[in-house]
Amino acid sequence: MAQTAPSDDLDLPDDHPGVSDQAYRQRRAAIAAVGAAHRPGDPIPDVTYAPEEDEVWRTVSGKLAERHRAYACRAYLDGAAALALPTDRVPQLRLVDQRLWELARFHVRPVPGLVPTRVFYGSLADRTFLSTQYVRHHSVPLYTPEPDVVHEVIGHANMLANPAFADLYEEAGKASLRATTEDALAFFSKVFWFTLEFGVLWEDGELRAYGAGLLSSYGEIAAFRRAEVRPWDLAAMGTLDYDITHYQPVLFAARSFAHMLDALTVFFAAYDDDTPRRLLTHPV
Ligand SMILES: [Fe+2]
Repeated sequence: MAQTAPSDDLDLPDDHPGVSDQAYRQRRAAIAAVGAAHRPGDPIPDVTYAPEEDEVWRTVSGKLAERHRAYACRAYLDGAAALALPTDRVPQLRLVDQRLWELARFHVRPVPGLVPTRVFYGSLADRTFLSTQYVRHHSVPLYTPEPDVVHEVIGHANMLANPAFADLYEEAGKASLRATTEDALAFFSKVFWFTLEFGVLWEDGELRAYGAGLLSSYGEIAAFRRAEVRPWDLAAMGTLDYDITHYQPVLFAARSFAHMLDALTVFFAAYDDDTPRRLLTHPV
């Protein structure tokens, strides 16, 4: 699809690596326009990525793949192998969506940028992951201050290609819809953060990552074993504040993949406004 050059109304923070790069800002605006124009049910329009954007993908996906072999859990590696995304260029979401649907009956849909919390989680109930399409700034290919297509696709889509994770994301989405109060949504969001974004689990005597935030961060995936690793504790996860601008100093480990899957499935399936109170009174 041809991309127009819309006006640049990007709201990047002052310390964003691309904040004063006018060409980058224009690219971000053009890619956002593709996402904004998409309507559910229509084919996902392609983005024409620039050579430096494909170069960022080549660099990051190659370096992350090395670290995944050392630090990612088996279920993630299986999902990534099945999805088999290109490593030499940014994959089009149309391709990611098509393969994810074949593998795990999950959809990916483009969005121009961050969407409201309830919209993002709610879409998971419809087995749909809302994904940005823009690429982080090329000056720092191994760092992004915000979710970009590297985080969405290498972190989340590779997970979702495993049907067990796909079903878990759907349960999470349904749980979010039953959180009608802001307190209940906040507790749910924190558990999501400490599990599907930054979760770790024990596998063959080693701590391995299953969270998309860890799996898409070149620096943090090699550092997470130095964090304070606490045993599985949903009440603690749901009440612990976190800072998205630093490596997570505290992580929660499941005893195994099966433990994580069972415990989270039960938690999401039963989640409602009263769950935080019940958990804090009777921790499990
Ligand atoms: Fe994420």
